[in-house]
Amino acid sequence: MTTEDNDQAAQFRQEGHVAFVVGYTGATGKELVKALSTTSLFKRVVLLGRRKTNVTEKLGNEFEEIIVDFEHLENHEDVFTGCDVGFNCLGTTRSKGGKEGFLRVDHDYVIKTAEFAKAKGCKRFLHVSSQGSDKDSWFLYTKTKGLVEEELQNLQFEHLAIFRPGFLLCEREETRIGEKIAACCFSPCICCCLKYSAMPTETLGLAMVRRACRPNGTVEIIDNPTIHYIAT
Ligand SMILES: NC(=O)c1ccc[n+]([C@@H]2O[C@H](COP(=O)([O-])OP(=O)(O)OC[C@H]3O[C@@H](n4cnc5c(N)ncnc54)[C@H](OP(=O)(O)O)[C@@H]3O)[C@@H](O)[C@H]2O)c1
Repeated sequence: MTTEDNDQAAQFRQEGHVAFVVGYTGATGKELVKALSTTSLFKRVVLLGRRKTNVTEKLGNEFEEIIVDFEHLENHEDVFTGCDVGFNCLGTTRSKGGKEGFLRVDHDYVIKTAEFAKAKGCKRFLHVSSQGSDKDSWFLYTKTKGLVEEELQNLQFEHLAIFRPGFLLCEREETRIGEKIAACCFSPCICCCLKYSAMPTETLGLAMVRRACRPNGTVEIIDNPTIHYIAT
């Protein structure tokens, strides 16, 4: 980090910002929470999830976990009150919930979260999308990611950061066959592929936190190499 980055972080810390995180129990979300904890940039961090975990036991007092029903976020809109920054790491796979389940989480829950947050005054939204996202794509995954990006832009946050990582490198409890195959393909040429096509979740989490305190334009599309650059 440059001196300018450090000054900006110090200034941001003093301003007393409040963040919420959705998807904090996932591979990226866990690393994001670690980065939020080590950087101490926020006065308060609200973790919004569908199930109770013991995550806050290992975190500072600024972290609070609140359980919400994403199907009925309208019953929980007050949880967004006072949050000026939102981080989204939600996601599922088609193999887990089928096409409908995928659309519900990766589209509906993300857009509803962003809408309620915006209505309650959220100014900055940092969103994990994917490399290759394209609303005109023939593929459900990349098309959905592209449509979500477009709908988020329509909400007109003061600062919207869209992260488009390539393949996410992390340890998972569950087995994802597609990811295992991709990991094998990457391993022989990991160094040259990493910058352009892959991303440790730790790098992504840190880059998201760093970007939160350094808004740069209204809408930013941040590709895989730039995510690496921000985190180094
Ligand atoms: N995997 C890759 O290589 C890759 C590459 C590029 C982009 N991405 C995108 O990056 C994002 C983060 O990926 P990840 O691998 O970090 O995700 P992940 O480990 O699968 O975590 C997903 C998160 O979403 C939550 N979630 C899933 N289904 C839910 C539901 N029905 N209701 C409420 N919460 C639900 C999970 O909560 P629970 O813990 O309660 O299940 C978890 O917190 C995703 O949008 C993904 O599409 C992934």
